[in-house]
Formats: sequence, structure tokens, C-alpha cells
Amino acid sequence: MTTKNQIDFEAIIRERHSVKHFDPTFQLQKEEIIELLDLANQAPSSWNLQHWAFLTIHDQAAKEKLLPIAYGQKQVVEASVVIAILGNLKANENGEAALGPAVTAGFMPQKVKDTYIEQIEHAYANYSGLPREAAVLNSSLAAMQLMLAAKGRGLDSCPIGGFNYGELVNVFNVPDHLIPIMLIPIGKAAIPAYASTRIPVEQSITWNGFE
Ligand SMILES: Cc1cc2nc3c(=O)[nH]c(=O)nc-3n(C[C@H](O)[C@H](O)[C@H](O)COP(=O)(O)O)c2cc1C
Repeated sequence: MTTKNQIDFEAIIRERHSVKHFDPTFQLQKEEIIELLDLANQAPSSWNLQHWAFLTIHDQAAKEKLLPIAYGQKQVVEASVVIAILGNLKANENGEAALGPAVTAGFMPQKVKDTYIEQIEHAYANYSGLPREAAVLNSSLAAMQLMLAAKGRGLDSCPIGGFNYGELVNVFNVPDHLIPIMLIPIGKAAIPAYASTRIPVEQSITWNGFE
């Protein structure tokens, strides 16, 4: 069965493209940005630790500071806002804040929460690569969700990985436990994005194991 929502959502997926030229006169209000980030914040994450942070670069002066960091990519000054998606290397410390309210609301038994907290602490203490991998993996889900949420509201975006990570940290005083993942300018396209194609999906599918 195909529902109207399904059609609309599929159109959002297919019509999102990486816009290179934004209308600099179009401005999003803070409330609208918060609503978009709240939608991104609904992304799934391992143990629901919500490994992301959103550095929101909205003032024109702040966007100008970002321009050389993004190697002159004009989207970062022309878009209404740039969200620097950051990944939290200490997401294990979110355990109580993330899971406690679910217990209070009756969504999760206390025993399940206690087990999760034990698992989280064990994993973060014993697997040295995990904090970074989990930060990148889970924050990327929030990043994708943000771009789709924006498109769903008639807005455009462009994921940007081409920027100087160290300089972003220095110039915007990003704390040590947060790592840059990507920049996402959001606004209204001034010029439509270049059309893009995909390798046919059949070439990416393997059924039931590799030979
Ligand atoms: C992690 C990542 C980094 C990217 N970095 C840049 C970038 O620095 N500048 C840019 O213009 N586009 C960047 N892109 C956009 C890609 O070029 C674009 O997604 C791809 O060509 C497919 O086009 P589409 O998004 O319009 O379908 C990036 C995309 C991703 C996912």
C-alpha cells in the first residue's frame, strides 16, 4: 500500500540535493532553527546516548569567520545558518540524562536502564576506538536527519566535509570532547543544485552473504 505520507517522504528524499548557491536575503528565525534541530535530535543513537552537538553559526560575522575555514565555499556565508555537527567523545556521560527520563516516564524499567549504563561504561572503558567511532556514526545519522527535515520544510542544504577541522575547533573554541563531523548550511537555494546520479542500487546489494 502506498500512502500520501510515503509519497511525500520519498519526494523529500529524492529532491534533496547539495545546493551550492543560497539566497543571502532569506533568513531563518532562531525558533525555526531550533525546530529543525529538534527534528534532527530525534535521530536514533546507540544506547540513545545522542552523541551529537550542534554548533549553530547564525550571525553574519560568525559565518564570515567560517568562510576561510571552509576553504572559501560560499554556501557558508550565503545560507541563513550553518550547523556544525559535532560528535561527542564522552557520550557515555549522557547516560543518566538520556535514559533517566525514560524510566521516570515509565517507558523503560529501571533494571534495563541499569544494565545499559553498565554496558556503556564497560564499552567506553575497554574499547579505545569506540568513543570516536560512535561519535562519527551516530552524529552522521543526526546530520542526515537534519538535511531531510530541512527539505521537508521546503529548505535546502549542503553537507560540507571540505573544511579545516582544526581551525574550526580553534576559531569557535570547540571543547576537547567534541569533534567536527560536517558543516550543514541551510537556507533557500538561489540556484538549483546540480543534478546528481547514483550507481544503480543493484550494484550495492549482496543477497545472503558474499561468495
Ligand atoms: C561527508 C560529505 C562531505 C561533503 N563535502 C562537500 C563539500 O565540502 N562541498 C560541497 O560542495 N559538497 C560536499 N558534499 C556534497 C556531495 O558532493 C554530494 O552529496 C554528492 O555529490 C551527491 O550530490 P547530491 O547531494 O546533490 O545528491 C559532501 C557530502 C558528504 C556526504
